[in-house]
Amino acid sequence: MCLLSAMMKPMKQTDRPTTQLRVLTGDRPTGKLHLGHYLGSIQNRLHLQAQIEAQGGVFFYMIADVQALTDNAHNPEKVRDALVEVALDNLACGMDPRLTTMFVQSHIPEIAELTVYFLNLVTLSRLKQNPTVKTEIAQKGFGEAVPAGFLMYPVSQAADILTFRATSIPVGADQIPVLEQTNEIVDDFNRLYGTLFSRVTPLLSHASRMPGIDGKAKMSKSLGNAIFLSDTPALIEKKVMQMYTDPEHVHVAHPGKVEGNVVFTYLDAFDPHPDEIAELKAGYRKGGLGDVVLKKRLTQVLLEVLTPIRERREQLAKNPRDVLEILHEGTARARKEAIATMELVESHMKIDHFRSLKD
Ligand code: TRP
Repeated sequence: MCLLSAMMKPMKQTDRPTTQLRVLTGDRPTGKLHLGHYLGSIQNRLHLQAQIEAQGGVFFYMIADVQALTDNAHNPEKVRDALVEVALDNLACGMDPRLTTMFVQSHIPEIAELTVYFLNLVTLSRLKQNPTVKTEIAQKGFGEAVPAGFLMYPVSQAADILTFRATSIPVGADQIPVLEQTNEIVDDFNRLYGTLFSRVTPLLSHASRMPGIDGKAKMSKSLGNAIFLSDTPALIEKKVMQMYTDPEHVHVAHPGKVEGNVVFTYLDAFDPHPDEIAELKAGYRKGGLGDVVLKKRLTQVLLEVLTPIRERREQLAKNPRDVLEILHEGTARARKEAIATMELVESHMKIDHFRSLKD
């Protein structure tokens, strides 16, 4: 809303629509984004962005470089380089910086400040029991040598969200325990210092998790089984041709398995003609339908989705300075909100010692 109309018609508390979305989400910048991210989070973001354009509300998109450093402290170049890549991926897919405040976590010092205060509300045993963190510690093989910053990232994530008073949080299902911990912090803070924050709700995408091209349950850069949004057509074709199908389907004439067949999983997710896919599945099960026919179809379907994204991305990537400008401007906008929240936090926590000198 423009400032002028806000001044002309002062909004009473009761006038304020209660359904206005206040959304915050983010990516850890550790590498380029792939098809799994596209289906699992980017599409969901674009949908929310459109909803906010139509109905009002605010959308913060954060590049969580501080969080990425919690397990990449030894590799700052990777995090720095991925920052622009991840911004490019989101912009190329249609994230619009006029509608979505795109900002960088490390440049909002209020998040770090709030994290420190929240740490007093959380115990070490609670952190160790957080299922998300527990799984990730096991996966990364940290054991007792887990960096303290990594162990407490759910606290820092609570601060990411609450610095912006966000309530609707798009995340993957693996992040639900992290948001549960945010809500515990909300309750404790409000009880101890007076009500300030609202509880948060996860917004889960309906897309199921996409397998890698090798048939592993998860597509991921580190597993080397991903199709990236920035892949060239030749590379996409090559990856689709390598895709895991049914290892026992050695003769075209023999029946093949559709379940667990990655080509069908991707056709189900992307092909605009589900009726034709149903027929192809029946044919494959019966026998007589070869993998190459299906893979050619999938290549075409993926190219239709990814070509405009890749072209826009290449265009944007010509001027990385412009991308930095977008993030810089978004960070300045976000910072104003963060400072306003911090003033409230300070008065609630009775650490607004010098406030009276301002009057
Ligand atoms: N932990 C999130 C992930 O790995 C990224 C993230 C950081 C985030 N801060 C956030 C998501 C705040 C939502 C809200 O996907």
